[in-house]
Amino acid sequence: MQAITEIKSLRSQIKAWRQAGLSVALVPTMGNLHQGHFSLVEKAKNMADKVVVSIFVNPMQFGVNEDLDNYPRTLTADKQGLAELGTDIVFTPSVEAIYPNGLGAQSFVDVPDISMGYCGGSRPGHFRGVATVVTKLFNLVQPDFACFGEKDFQQLQVIKTMTRDLSIPVEVIGVATSREVSGLAMSSRNGYLSAEQKETATILFKTLNWCAEQLTNGERDFISVCEQAKQQLQDGGLKPDYFEIAQRDTLIKATLNDNNLVILTAAYLGSVRLIDNLQVDIT
Ligand code: PAJ
Repeated sequence: MQAITEIKSLRSQIKAWRQAGLSVALVPTMGNLHQGHFSLVEKAKNMADKVVVSIFVNPMQFGVNEDLDNYPRTLTADKQGLAELGTDIVFTPSVEAIYPNGLGAQSFVDVPDISMGYCGGSRPGHFRGVATVVTKLFNLVQPDFACFGEKDFQQLQVIKTMTRDLSIPVEVIGVATSREVSGLAMSSRNGYLSAEQKETATILFKTLNWCAEQLTNGERDFISVCEQAKQQLQDGGLKPDYFEIAQRDTLIKATLNDNNLVILTAAYLGSVRLIDNLQVDIT
């Protein structure tokens, strides 16, 4: 595995692969890698001849009161895990390389409608930061495929929408959420939780499943189901941020005419913000 920090070296290696007719898949990450990230790398390996994993804690997508400075950085372990999986390049650019003019003077990419509400509502500017850095990574790596987790469902849909709207020649692949045996979605932020809190956090996925079951059984009062779900989260020790049922592709709030749905939720456990979602088809 090559560890590359300079953009110039990255471009020249990619160019050599291209000249040899090899396809490339990209997995963008912020590091502190776990099985969820590794499942994206495995998918990428199945899709393309060469796999590039980027590790970049992107300041543009963090709000002022968020955990940018304390975001867990575990580069040595990350590199070891990626090498064991047969990653071809781990790309770890500096903030200066990605944002040479600083954040204030940076052009940006906005994907307005789908970035509104849910996590975009609670984290203003977050998806602008994500869309901008992903565009830059797409331009640097020029991959054929890029893999993103369904764990961050709104992020996946923002990137799919942006790629389509801007005619970016990258196929965006969504990969199913990796979970602990308890059902808890794997996340770098789980590292902030005690063993007891991890047990408490399982209520998030349990409540998503309860909601999906209600829908499958014919319940169509979406507002009431979401209110009950929020109460369940609260009773279980979480502080709900949102719990909503949406059309899967547009993330517009579900109506009675919609069949392909996604239930989206975010909740606080102490100061840790957890997100999860579940897709459900109704007839
Ligand atoms: P990060 O949180 O490091 O996640 C990198 C990728 O791993 C994302 O596509 C995310 O959805 C996926 N992922 C995380 N946990 C997962 C799980 N349990 N199962 C499946 N996939 C999972 O998301 C980001 O970084 C950043 O916003 C980024 C896209 C890199 C832009 O900065």
